[in-house]
Amino acid sequence: MKVAVIRIEHFNAAHRLYRKDWDDAKNKEVFGLCSNPLYHGHNYYLEIKVSGDIDPETGYVIDLKILKDIIRDEVLEKFDHKNLNEDTDEFHDLNPTAENIAVVIYDKIRARLDAAYDIKVRLSETERNIVEYPA
Ligand code: NI
Repeated sequence: MKVAVIRIEHFNAAHRLYRKDWDDAKNKEVFGLCSNPLYHGHNYYLEIKVSGDIDPETGYVIDLKILKDIIRDEVLEKFDHKNLNEDTDEFHDLNPTAENIAVVIYDKIRARLDAAYDIKVRLSETERNIVEYPA
């Protein structure tokens, strides 16, 4: 009997979507406003869903305090109020789309949790666009 628990967080970050091998016009054509050369910010909404068996001793799938601390260490302290392209190693050479950010966050959380848990990351830059990984 698998049960899922979900922790919700927010962080703010700046980014620019672009390819270094394309000129500004081509980047603007493909990435639109998100390719503004002087960056812009998003209020990212993040859900981390952890599924597993209920521990009969505690009644928890996972202590949400532990999950909260992992997200703080792996995501918020690294990305909150940062310029993702310039301030982080993760996105220095990886386009910081919501898709890529979700995969990076998944890998960081995955590395910190027991393999018995299933993890799903949902991330949105705007209220109308949501990315989910794994799909
Ligand atoms: Ni953007």
